[in-house]
Amino acid sequence: MTGAQLENILKKHDYQKSSLLAILQDVQALDNYLPRKTLEAMSQRLQVPLTQIYYLATFYRAFSLTPRGDHLVTVCTGTACHVKGAATILNTLERELAVQPGETTSDKKYTLETVNCLGSCALAPLVVLDGHYHGRMVGTKVLSLLKGDKKDASKKS
Ligand code: FES
Repeated sequence: MTGAQLENILKKHDYQKSSLLAILQDVQALDNYLPRKTLEAMSQRLQVPLTQIYYLATFYRAFSLTPRGDHLVTVCTGTACHVKGAATILNTLERELAVQPGETTSDKKYTLETVNCLGSCALAPLVVLDGHYHGRMVGTKVLSLLKGDKKDASKKS
């Protein structure tokens, strides 16, 4: 993110400290993560302690302090999903994408994450792709999900 881009975001929010969360959302939307340098610049421009910004940045799962891929794949590993085979689904995704949870593929297309219960246990095992819930997942289905996503991506390009 350039300094001018950050300035535009801050201006949009009238440099209001009370809009910190919305400002972080705009930064995340632009860069797909929250770069440290941007957070430091925000701290200086808004006169808000960096610790307060980091508190928000680490409290909400929507934010990431490391670069994310174009697509976020989240596997629920909570109890209900675990019992219904979340580990197998996670292994399938780790093999297919060649990453571990918390990592991004080398082509920056996918970031794989795990979460401990999304509150939709009736759908277990659950995978979330870019915010869309996909329940009663199995290994083959999760691969189709990725392939469908890859097809959609190639149609757009
Ligand atoms: S354990 Fe996966 S949604 Fe609750």
